[in-house]
Amino acid sequence: MKKAIYAGSFDPVTLGHLDIIHRAAKLFDTLVVAVLENPNKCSLFTVEERKKHLELVLCKMENVEVASFRGLLADFASEIGATTAVRGLRNAVDFASEYQMYLINRKLGKEMETVFLAADEEHISLSSTNVKEVAVFGGNIDFMVPQEIKPFIIEKYKK
Ligand code: PNS
Repeated sequence: MKKAIYAGSFDPVTLGHLDIIHRAAKLFDTLVVAVLENPNKCSLFTVEERKKHLELVLCKMENVEVASFRGLLADFASEIGATTAVRGLRNAVDFASEYQMYLINRKLGKEMETVFLAADEEHISLSSTNVKEVAVFGGNIDFMVPQEIKPFIIEKYKK
C-alpha cells in the first residue's frame, strides 16, 4: 500500500495543483493532500477554508484524502504512514528551492522519498500568488483556478 503526501499552502488551490493531484493519484494507492497550518504566514483563506475548497474539488477522487498539519512535513508524513512526498516543478527556480527542500526532508525523514512531477506547459505561469495578484484587481482568473473556487476568491476581495 503506497501512500504519498502532496503538501502545500493552497491559498488558493490552482489548476496547476489540481493537475499534479490528478497525476499523482494515478501513481499511488492513496494520496493525502495536506494544507500547512503556518501561523507566521499571512493567508487569504483560513486553513479550514482551504481544506473545504480542496474537499470540494477532490470529492470525486476515491484515493485522495484532505488533511492539515503543523510543523515538519517529514514528521507528519511519518505520522500518517506516507513514504513519498510529491512536489510539482514549473521551472528552474522551483527546482533550485525544491531540491534543497528534498535534501533537508531526506535528512529529517529517513524513510521519505520525493517524487517531482513536471508541470504541464499550460500551468507553468500559475501560482497562488499570481491568482491573488490578478483577483485583487478584478482580473479574469478562469484559467487559473477550479471554477468551484472562483466565487470564494471573488467574495474575499469584495470584503
Ligand atoms: O505551497 P508551498 O508553499 O509550495 O508549500 C511548501 C510546503 C508546505 C510543502 C513546505 O513549506 C513545508 O513542507 N513546510 C513544512 C515545514 C517543513 O517541513 N519544511 C521542510 C524543510 S525546509
